[in-house]
Amino acid sequence: MKHKMKRRSLIKGIAAAAVAVPAAGLVVGTHAFGATTSSDSSSSSLTFDPDAYTEITTTISTDDGDKEVTYHFWSAITYVTDPVDETYQSLTVSVPVSIDGTTVDATDAPILFANSVGGYLPSSVSSNTAVSSSRAQLAIAAGYVAVEPGARGRTLVDSSGDYYGTAPAAIVDLKAAIRYVRYNAGTIPGDTDKIVTAGTSAGGALSALLGASGGSSLYDDYLSDLGAADATDTVYATGAWCPITDLENADGAYEWNWGTNAASSGSEVDQTTSADLIALFKTYQSSLGLTADDYGTITTDNLDDYLLATYLEPAATSYLTDLSDDDRTTYLSSNTFITWDGSAATFTWSDYLDHVGTRTKSIPAFDAFDLSAAENNEFGLDTTEARHFTDYSLANDTSGSGGSSLDSDIPAKLEMMNPMYFIGQSNDDRAKYWWIRTGTKDSDTALTIVGNLALSLENLGDTVNSSMYWDAAHGADEDPGDFITWIGTVTGYTS
Ligand code: DHB
Repeated sequence: MKHKMKRRSLIKGIAAAAVAVPAAGLVVGTHAFGATTSSDSSSSSLTFDPDAYTEITTTISTDDGDKEVTYHFWSAITYVTDPVDETYQSLTVSVPVSIDGTTVDATDAPILFANSVGGYLPSSVSSNTAVSSSRAQLAIAAGYVAVEPGARGRTLVDSSGDYYGTAPAAIVDLKAAIRYVRYNAGTIPGDTDKIVTAGTSAGGALSALLGASGGSSLYDDYLSDLGAADATDTVYATGAWCPITDLENADGAYEWNWGTNAASSGSEVDQTTSADLIALFKTYQSSLGLTADDYGTITTDNLDDYLLATYLEPAATSYLTDLSDDDRTTYLSSNTFITWDGSAATFTWSDYLDHVGTRTKSIPAFDAFDLSAAENNEFGLDTTEARHFTDYSLANDTSGSGGSSLDSDIPAKLEMMNPMYFIGQSNDDRAKYWWIRTGTKDSDTALTIVGNLALSLENLGDTVNSSMYWDAAHGADEDPGDFITWIGTVTGYTS
């Protein structure tokens, strides 16, 4: 890669001088890392040093009250031998050793792999001095191992003006981090056969993609360019909150869902464009060939009823059930579109859309005609900051960057970024356990994104725990403790 910024690979951490020598018989690093990298540095730089931690004691609040957790913390470890930018290509590890004064042995515990990517932006853990995300904190308070990876993101530009964090950089980095963990099985604490990915929004998209694309060879060239560890990147289970994914189909999905909701201007978006995009989505939805009990094949004719009965009404029911009688009465009197029979909420799709109100995004939501969307930048290349990734927006370009066809690298990158591609291929190496959530007031993407992701996995026979949070906005996580419990259930782990 011509824009690669080579830096010396540093081993960080308090015991950096005592880098472990690989055990005799362990084959490391001479074949996959390229001729320019010596086997010594490649083997040492991908070898987890079990002694290079700091011990930290902290109080973590959980559903079961506050817990005093003592844990071992490994600060930023570069997870590839030939990083482009190790500020992003590094991870931290947190391993509990005692909880409320009781010794914990996390040797065989599940490993929560919690990314903190947002907006497809760069995310770094390189200056973290402790376990960071609340999800990772809850994991160690439950006796699990938490790995927090950084990853390159779309806005990174090197001194030549090249964008070096655009697609597929983030997923390649996260896969490299998974490979690092797996490569160090037996030395890194935790059960590397029980890696559970997690992330929200763009991070939810990447988590879903890690789960769906596990073991795929599509990324191999990118991974070997980085000197990723010679190990598989399959994962056991995946948590994804409001995933901003299926990007090349998301403009149509968005219009099908939110097309008549007012934009921030107060008026509807152009309804001719909206109708064009909806027509594309109809074809796409049918092409998925998804089926659901009581519905048969899900098409745009029954998708609204399906989402209503599967997600929206149960979300409202659960919300209302949990309210006090007085609060429920108050809520229902200001939301008269809901019929409450004493135990269940019912309403129409159209009243639900009115209830949500203003849509967050303009049209098209993801491949903007003027290339102004975050996702246009995500598909940037070299010195080009932003590109089209759908034929429709290319044909309607207003940026002066139109053309007769998408750039030739785009189709492969769309596949590498889309979990639906790998699910459509029935990738047998995918995660088989899924936790999927979004808020019913989240119009950062269509509800169909979550609906189709969950249903396509169910149709493959996976174990899918999916639901929506009533009235919750973008980024919500209203049952974080339940996710942690679910990890224990699906991995069969009891500490
Ligand atoms: C995120 C939100 C968006 O609306 C989007 O288009 C991409 C990413 C996010 O919050 O990560």
